[in-house]
Amino acid sequence: MVPTLKFANGDQIPALGLGTWKSDPGEVGAAVKEALRLGYRHFDCAAVYGNEKEIGTALAEAIGSGAVKREELWITSKLWNNAHLKDDVLPALRQTLADLQLDYLDLYLMHWPIAQRPEVSFPEKAADFLSPDEAPLAETWAALEEAADAGLCHHIGVSNFSPRRLQQLLDTARRAPEVNQVESQPLLAQNDLLDLCRKHGVIFTAYSPLGSPDRPARLQRGNDPPLMKAPVIEAIGRKHGITPAQVLLAWAVCRGTVVIPKSVTPARLQENLAAASVELNTEDMAALSALDQDHRFLDGAFWGMDGSPYTMEYLWG
Ligand SMILES: NC(=O)c1ccc[n+]([C@@H]2O[C@H](COP(=O)([O-])OP(=O)(O)OC[C@H]3O[C@@H](n4cnc5c(N)ncnc54)[C@H](OP(=O)(O)O)[C@@H]3O)[C@@H](O)[C@H]2O)c1
Repeated sequence: MVPTLKFANGDQIPALGLGTWKSDPGEVGAAVKEALRLGYRHFDCAAVYGNEKEIGTALAEAIGSGAVKREELWITSKLWNNAHLKDDVLPALRQTLADLQLDYLDLYLMHWPIAQRPEVSFPEKAADFLSPDEAPLAETWAALEEAADAGLCHHIGVSNFSPRRLQQLLDTARRAPEVNQVESQPLLAQNDLLDLCRKHGVIFTAYSPLGSPDRPARLQRGNDPPLMKAPVIEAIGRKHGITPAQVLLAWAVCRGTVVIPKSVTPARLQENLAAASVELNTEDMAALSALDQDHRFLDGAFWGMDGSPYTMEYLWG
């Protein structure tokens, strides 16, 4: 059984869900169906992943056949950076709902604290961005609050928010963000952010928990450590008879976060789901926590081109 984390209203999110970034059209539908068959109930989606239609078809088939009920599923999606202007938020959410063939999302997240011009899918130059003055995060957030008021999403949250950005939003929001989805794995424990989330009842979701080995080449750096080959992680795996991937996922679940590994490979889907019920002991957890070195596999440097208002300092503080 996958443990769950509780929201203030009693709703429960499964602590392990399926990531879908880079799961290509043509393979993502089969992965979602296989995941459902294995017992996954939580799916992490986003408009910018370009695969919500195929995921929607797989979900509709599963619900239509009676294999699973909508209310047993936890579906998250995310608002892309080019729909931050207040009149663009609801149409973007409605498009995601149409693509996923759903009446509501369980959770809708602001994907990045970054705004792009509406016509720009991925920024290539500084002029492709809207500055924080042109598209204030508070206005985008207010539109997410309206979407939640309208019942289009049951919970709202953010992603890639540093402690400083999260605190700012907590100080001003009418409805507090309920989730912050950020990169986290033992090399990037983000303990300060986790403490802040705990203090305010914000659920912390860890993305790229395996180090995102299939991230695009332009996001890879020569000196990135191969996370799943770290000797400490391999040794803990050998001791428990589990794989390095399972050690990483169990670490995330045991420290009380949600984790969303991506796979399109049936054996790995099964392996990853099983990790949610692995219990690591205090000694294992301490050895993994000692690996923390603030290493991001996805450092957001792609937003920081010359002249961009979104510097690394703005993002991570
Ligand atoms: N909010 C954000 O900005 C943000 C950013 C990044 C990611 N995310 C979310 O987090 C999810 C996970 O992150 P991610 O996709 O970057 O990377 P990840 O889950 O850390 O790694 C995925 C890679 O690991 C492989 N893999 C999966 N299970 C494995 C296992 N048991 N053993 C060995 N290899 C395994 C997958 O291969 P196969 O698929 O070939 O099996 C794939 O190449 C995303 O898919 C997305 O939903 C969100």
